[in-house]
Amino acid sequence: MSSGTIETAILSPTQENLDWLADWIRKGGVAALPTETVYGLAADALNTGALRQIFEIKRRPLYDPLIVHVENGEKLLEWAEINEDLRRTVLTLIERFSPGPLTYVLPKKSWVPELLTAGRPTLALRIPAHPLFREILRRSSLALAAPSANPFGYLSPTLARHVRESLGGKLHYILDGGDCTVGLESTILDLSRSPMRILRPGKITREEIQSVLPDKEIAGYIHEELDDTVSPMAPGMLRRHYSPRTPLCLFFKMEELPLAKEENVARVFLSRKDREEVLGNDFFLSEEGDGMQVAKRLFSLLRELDTSHSYEKIYCQCPPSHGLGTAIADRLCRAAGLPKKGP
Ligand code: TXA
Ligand code: MG
Repeated sequence: MSSGTIETAILSPTQENLDWLADWIRKGGVAALPTETVYGLAADALNTGALRQIFEIKRRPLYDPLIVHVENGEKLLEWAEINEDLRRTVLTLIERFSPGPLTYVLPKKSWVPELLTAGRPTLALRIPAHPLFREILRRSSLALAAPSANPFGYLSPTLARHVRESLGGKLHYILDGGDCTVGLESTILDLSRSPMRILRPGKITREEIQSVLPDKEIAGYIHEELDDTVSPMAPGMLRRHYSPRTPLCLFFKMEELPLAKEENVARVFLSRKDREEVLGNDFFLSEEGDGMQVAKRLFSLLRELDTSHSYEKIYCQCPPSHGLGTAIADRLCRAAGLPKKGP
């Protein structure tokens, strides 16, 4: 899919390359960097020219705001306009979950560029855990805006070559950080409203957040209330998002799975365990059904099946919506363009 004219290099994480990339970004360049969740398309969060490039490369609509990545809690709070009570709540969450895959939506300072927030009064902030992303933050001394490094609406990348496959020719550099350990985008928690609300489920679950804030009410995730005709609260909440081009159908129980022995249909199961008869077109997201493994492999396997152009349809098993299953089921329902359903 290399449609641009730029030569896209995958850089190994040598000291020299890290310095080069930090400098490149400081000068207003865009580069794809690994995070623990998915690869991000990073640029200086205060450079509007660089931010525009992000939107152009992804073909992302300007109404979809970006996440700003910072090194630590102190830097995060510099971007937020919050009272003492909210400050204490945020610090409690940071102490437990950051650096890591939790994004905080907070009332923003007045100087925050409109392009970051799409004109909203709030800003999304995250302290990533990936050591290479953190190195670039440290070496550039910047805050970095970074959406997932995929064309708008497509599956998020969890390997450097995924970025090159779908954005090659449109950016100069991709930093190779290997396989992303989480594999799903961060949990987004909107703390700008009362009660606070999960806008996008991820590895860090509502139950975990509640356990460190026992006295706070946390509104659950609201996939079922979504309506594509209104501007969504987080556009990652659009019903159809993270989609492969091959039609994807979900099944919840084995009885729902058509026999599908045809070779042009791929069947994806959560676990290899309990499958007695394995067909050539059967694929497994984990050996034992471990949610972390499923999450890590989900986008990568769907992408492989999609780009192999070997299948006319993909059937994929969907987990029940609790714990990490909520995030996995969410991404699967969106990839299939379905309203949430199932157990
Ligand atoms: O794990 C992640 O969060 C990855 C890595 C690269 O950090 N980033 C990521 O960014 O998933 P992106 O842009 O693909 O998704 C961010 C989501 C979008 O759906 C956006 O609408 C939402 O965050 N968002 C950003 N700012 C927001 C705000 N002020 N209020 C509500 N939602 C917001
Ligand atoms: Mg995204």
